[in-house]
Amino acid sequence: MRRRSSALTEVREAPSLQERKTATRVLVEHHEVLRGLLRELAETPRSEPGRRRALTDELFDELWMHERIEEDVFYPAVRDITPAIAAAWSEHRQLTDQLAALVRADPSSERFDRELGVLHDVLVSHAHLDEELRMFPEVERFADEELLVDVGDSLQTRLDQLRSSQRIRAFLRLERALLRRTAR
Ligand SMILES: [Fe+2]
Ligand SMILES: [Fe+2]
Repeated sequence: MRRRSSALTEVREAPSLQERKTATRVLVEHHEVLRGLLRELAETPRSEPGRRRALTDELFDELWMHERIEEDVFYPAVRDITPAIAAAWSEHRQLTDQLAALVRADPSSERFDRELGVLHDVLVSHAHLDEELRMFPEVERFADEELLVDVGDSLQTRLDQLRSSQRIRAFLRLERALLRRTAR
C-alpha cells in the first residue's frame, strides 16, 4: 500500500544562506559553461562545420545572456563596492564585437580559427583576470553575505528566464542570421 506523506513532511524549510549560491558562484559557474563551449569549439575540426556552427550559436546565446545578467543585475548591485565595474562595461562591448566576428566567419575557414583565438583571449582577460581574480574577490570581501545570496538568486532566476524564453530565443536567432547576412 502506498504511504501518504503527512503535511508536516511536505513542508520544506527555506534554504539557509550557506545552501544558497552567492552571486559570484553563479557567475563563475556560468563562466565555466562559456569556457567549456570555447574548448569544445577549439577541439572540433574544420571538417565539421555544422558542429562548429551549432556550438558557435550556443556560445553566442550564452554569452549574450551572461552579459545581460551581469549588466542588468550584478554590476548595478555591486557598483559601489568595486571600481572594476567601470572597465567591465567596455570589455563587454569588446566581447560582443569579437563574438560577432566569430559568428560572421565561415566555420570551415582559417579565419574562424583566428577569430576563435581572439575571442578566447578576450574572454580570459575579462572573465578570469578581471572578474574572477580582481572584481569577485573584492565583492566577496566587502559585500555582506545576505546581499551576495540575494543577488545570486536574482542572477539564477534571470538566467533561467532568459534561457526558457521563446521570445529571447527568436531574437537571438534573428541576431545571428543578420550577422551572417552581413558577413564579408
Ligand atoms: Fe563580465
Ligand atoms: Fe562574467
